[in-house]
Amino acid sequence: MKEQIAKIKAEALAAFEGTQAAADLDALRVKYLGKKGELTAVLKQMGSLSAEERPQMGALVNEVKASLEAALEEQARKLEAAAMEARLKLEAVDVTVPGKAPHLGHKHPMYIALDEIKEIFVGMGFTVLDGPEIELAELNFDRLNAEEGHPSRDWSDTFYFDEDSRVMLRSQTSPMQVRAMDTMPLPIRMVAPGRVYRKDEVDATHSPMFHQVEGMVIDKGVTMADLKGTLTTVAQRLFGEGIRTRFRPHHFPFTEPSCEMDVQCHKCGGAGCPTCKGEGWIELLGAGMIHPHVLEMAGIDPEVWSGWAFGFGLERTAMSRFKIDDLRLIFENDVRFLEQF
Ligand code: PHE
Repeated sequence: MKEQIAKIKAEALAAFEGTQAAADLDALRVKYLGKKGELTAVLKQMGSLSAEERPQMGALVNEVKASLEAALEEQARKLEAAAMEARLKLEAVDVTVPGKAPHLGHKHPMYIALDEIKEIFVGMGFTVLDGPEIELAELNFDRLNAEEGHPSRDWSDTFYFDEDSRVMLRSQTSPMQVRAMDTMPLPIRMVAPGRVYRKDEVDATHSPMFHQVEGMVIDKGVTMADLKGTLTTVAQRLFGEGIRTRFRPHHFPFTEPSCEMDVQCHKCGGAGCPTCKGEGWIELLGAGMIHPHVLEMAGIDPEVWSGWAFGFGLERTAMSRFKIDDLRLIFENDVRFLEQF
């Protein structure tokens, strides 16, 4: 029996040492020390021993059991350390590997143009305002002298929210003139860029949503000469010192007199080409002296104060600025297009 026990011990110790994984070690624990294990089997034979031999053998079995348990524990520690080592190796970060540079985007060309425009106006003492895209027809039309029945109020042109046409997506940034007059102390110099909406089909020059930049000056003794001088300076800052501007008479309900400003075509320099449809000039904005009645409706005395206002399409301006020939490119956001700016 002694030999049998010694053999089990030697075998078990060798088997423990040879294990690579905790699960294998556990299986061996069951095999040698478990209830149905080899050592337990030996204990069950104790009945056949003499009364003197029994305690001796019992002590021996206990001793072997203790040393096997110690060996098991020792091996478990080794396996755990090895597993940790392997994991550390696997998860090691090689700090010398070159990093992956994140792909940085950049500003959309229209916003590059807008930032330039804002900077020019801020440099001239204008405040930049932001206003709601959902607007009251009262501010978009009535307060701007476009009374009931005015063609621009038609359902075929304007996105209304309600049956009685009182709430709408603003069709121009001009209601910002009214909001500024109602809230700002005089004198006022402001620009207000933002989205506007009209029921237009999409083509190379139209979109149902586009951006305008509104501007307004109200002060004492302001004249059309200020309007022309300021807007020509802005055009030269945007398109280059040599650019020429041209003012043509026009009509807007809220300005009197009204005009449109053209800039010399950037493509042909005024000779006439497909971009300017042979004209040599490109229409850039609408403007005019603020109608006295519009001032009166805002509680401003037109005998004391006068002002001028303008509004221009931002997409069109960015297109001229960057020589882009199709409006849809501005909205499609094709990265191959955007990356050129
Ligand atoms: N709101 C006008 C438009 O959308 C432009 C404009 C603004 C004209 C300010 C005069 C003064 O066409």
